[in-house]
Amino acid sequence: MGAGLIALSDALSDWLDLGLRWLHVIAAMAWIGTSFYFVLLDQSLRPPKDRSDAGVAGELWEVHGGGFYQVQKYVTAPARLPDHVAWFKWEAYTTWLSGFALMLVLYYLEASSTLVRPGDDLEPWLAVTISIGLLVVAWIAYDVLNRLVSDARVLWPVLIVLVALAAWGSSELFSPRAAWLQVGAMIGTVMAANVLFDIIPAHRELIRAKEEGREPDPEPGIQAKQRSVQNNYLTLPVLLTMLVGHFPFAYGADRAWLVLVGLMAVGAWVRLFYNLRHQGRTHWWMAIVGAVAFVAIAVAVDRSGDTTSAPADAATIAQGRQVFVTAGCGACHTLADAGSTAVVGPDLDAAGPSAALVEQRVRNGQGVMPAFARTLSDEQIDAVAAYVASVAGG
Ligand code: HEC
Repeated sequence: MGAGLIALSDALSDWLDLGLRWLHVIAAMAWIGTSFYFVLLDQSLRPPKDRSDAGVAGELWEVHGGGFYQVQKYVTAPARLPDHVAWFKWEAYTTWLSGFALMLVLYYLEASSTLVRPGDDLEPWLAVTISIGLLVVAWIAYDVLNRLVSDARVLWPVLIVLVALAAWGSSELFSPRAAWLQVGAMIGTVMAANVLFDIIPAHRELIRAKEEGREPDPEPGIQAKQRSVQNNYLTLPVLLTMLVGHFPFAYGADRAWLVLVGLMAVGAWVRLFYNLRHQGRTHWWMAIVGAVAFVAIAVAVDRSGDTTSAPADAATIAQGRQVFVTAGCGACHTLADAGSTAVVGPDLDAAGPSAALVEQRVRNGQGVMPAFARTLSDEQIDAVAAYVASVAGG
């Protein structure tokens, strides 16, 4: 069971990666764009000037595309249902479906080298099962919370604790890179499930009530609105987890889960800044706090890298040098201590990678660089990582 569930050929998996990623990013842009737009709209509504239509709760004038738009919001529905209504749901569903397919191609089918933590003997199929199971758990926990608690002052702190728990748990279970993505997938699942199980049904009910001549119950609509606002705050955190795969210094940092929670909080905070701004309350100090927090996290990560990498003993370092030379690292990399000057990959003296990054790269490879997980033992990988980290930069 060790070697992947179904092995895709490299070319097939690369093309699936390209195609699915393209689709995923486009769908996510459309979804997040609508989320930004509707939250902006709701925050910007002003009481209508013309009060002849009692159902209109607010309106906004917009200028775009060579003309003016007048948008009016009815709470809950106009007296007579319109013939044509636009729905916003396929952006969300497509984002989730393409995201899940990407997880499958990039992580689940290669779970032993991508999902499982380096050196961990968790069975790949079990890792995949846990990962998928956690998507479901995330939704159930979130949904129950929202049903029990409506006070935002309680709900948000609990949500933040749950996200932190997800981040910490994922970092204990999965490889550093997969861990952040797992958290992103859990949040993304919650967001898409909000649309499927809550927001869209609430709107269907609104229409059904009108059609049956009942007065629509505003409660499901209020719930749905709350959840779409929560989705709005989750957009920037979730995007962060999707991009972080390119930044080993972040997902490979010590206590990376804390870094993740910190950065996510910055993202949600920035959303709050904008949402208040659209209501006409611009607090520049909030933007400054966000920027300072971002820099503070960057500084903290940099420091922790300096202090906590345990010094490796001389024997390990000597063994690591041996591995570097015999495994052929020198065929692609410059490293003065090993006397290599190749330029296929980054100059390691210039890059000065941490041991964690070397270990990650050697184990999993990246782009042109092959993975050595199958050819080198864990001990050899640790040794070469300790060696490169100790001599690079010299
Ligand atoms: C076939 C060429 C090749 C071989 C062999 C190779 N690498 Fe690499 N390596 C690369 C390339 C190319 C990259 C850049 C990958 C990327 O970021 O897309 C890289 C990236 C790295 C990085 C990350 C550097 C950074 O700052 O991002 C480290 C560390 C590294 N390699 C160490 C090693 C070690 C140690 C070995 C031997 C066990 C090795 N490499 C063998 C080509 C190679």
